[in-house]
Amino acid sequence: MTSTVFTGIAELVTNDAVLDGADHSEHLGILRDAAVVVGEGLVEWVGPASQAPPADQRRELGGNAVVPGFVDSHSHLVFAGDRSQEFAARMTGVAYDGGGIATSVRVTRAASDDELRVLVALRVAEMRSQGTTTVEIKSGYGLNVEDEARSLRIAAEFTSETTFLGAHVVPPEFADRRSEYIDLVTGEMLAACAPHARWIDVFCEPHSAHAFTEDEAKVVLSAGRDAGLGLRVHGNQLGHGPGVRLAVEMGAASVDHCTFLTADDIDQLAAASDTTVATLLPGVEFSTRSPYPDARRLLDAGVSIALATDCNPGTCYSSSIPFVLALAVREMSLTPAEALIAATVGSAKSLRRNDIGVIRVGNRADLAVLDAPSYLHLFYRAGVPIARALEPGGRHDHFHVTMGDPEGNELDLR
Ligand code: NIG
Ligand code: FE
Repeated sequence: MTSTVFTGIAELVTNDAVLDGADHSEHLGILRDAAVVVGEGLVEWVGPASQAPPADQRRELGGNAVVPGFVDSHSHLVFAGDRSQEFAARMTGVAYDGGGIATSVRVTRAASDDELRVLVALRVAEMRSQGTTTVEIKSGYGLNVEDEARSLRIAAEFTSETTFLGAHVVPPEFADRRSEYIDLVTGEMLAACAPHARWIDVFCEPHSAHAFTEDEAKVVLSAGRDAGLGLRVHGNQLGHGPGVRLAVEMGAASVDHCTFLTADDIDQLAAASDTTVATLLPGVEFSTRSPYPDARRLLDAGVSIALATDCNPGTCYSSSIPFVLALAVREMSLTPAEALIAATVGSAKSLRRNDIGVIRVGNRADLAVLDAPSYLHLFYRAGVPIARALEPGGRHDHFHVTMGDPEGNELDLR
């Protein structure tokens, strides 16, 4: 077993609430002049560089900052084509209603397995090169048994956090037969997809004619739960609605978007903060010219929040957590520390994971290094590509970056 000691870390953000000697202000657990020892993909030691134990190899990070790798807990990476014209139209005032999803479904169904695999690999590599070390990937552009199952099979080549989203929209061929489509999603499609998925998700949105009502969403989530899947919900994206209530009632791990919330929704989320995380996706508000969710109010009310990209061809074709972090601070009134915690600890919680998001002994060695002396530069130098995932060397059993390279070292830039 090869161990590596990373030294020359001017500022190490651990997010560890109990680390000895750390500055715990703002809950970041910061160590200065720190070192981290990593072996077999796990953190073996964290502390002041002057006390670092010996390791097989040493990597000097040159006075830069290291933060927990970003956890992107909401993405739709399995798609072909793009919808840039739809984006351009929205910038002139055309509203988003989910109708464009059918375009991506058509193009995705027509793509070969290898084409889709390469597209996902490129998007995952793009994420890693911006500091993301865990990604959740949804299906949802197949919307038939075969294409949903292959989307999840391909997603599972890159991550263990795969989500079945057969209930993304009602596909055009079922437009007049909604209940038949629900039967398909909860029957044959679920049976084909569940073996490749950890989660099930549904686009519960009465403001879109293409998405699902509360009753339909409940049927889908119940079937997924019976098949052993964890629950996630797309809710309250286009207007006030039942998504949050349903997610909380059913004990979903996450309700995502939360753009339009009533005081009652916020109370429910606060009361359910141990169970259900509100995942905010400000890249979507940016790309759809929507108002942003009131993240400040959510945090102040005691709601657990996460930040993710939602990378998809319709509402946000950005794979960049640093972009999302900058939006969260500038447009949603979070402090830099709150935003960073939401994109690491918060999004890990939304995936019910406690082995990522915090740099502590025994956790996964998922680290992001910044070309900067402090995490504050993520916000201060918005738009500058300073963050990237740090590969300690050693096999990652999820989130493979390159096909055919079991060591996943291709993006190891140092
Ligand atoms: O999270 N809202 C539903 N699904 C995606 C958008 C999908 C698309 O437009 O292609 C979202 O915003
Ligand atoms: Fe989404």
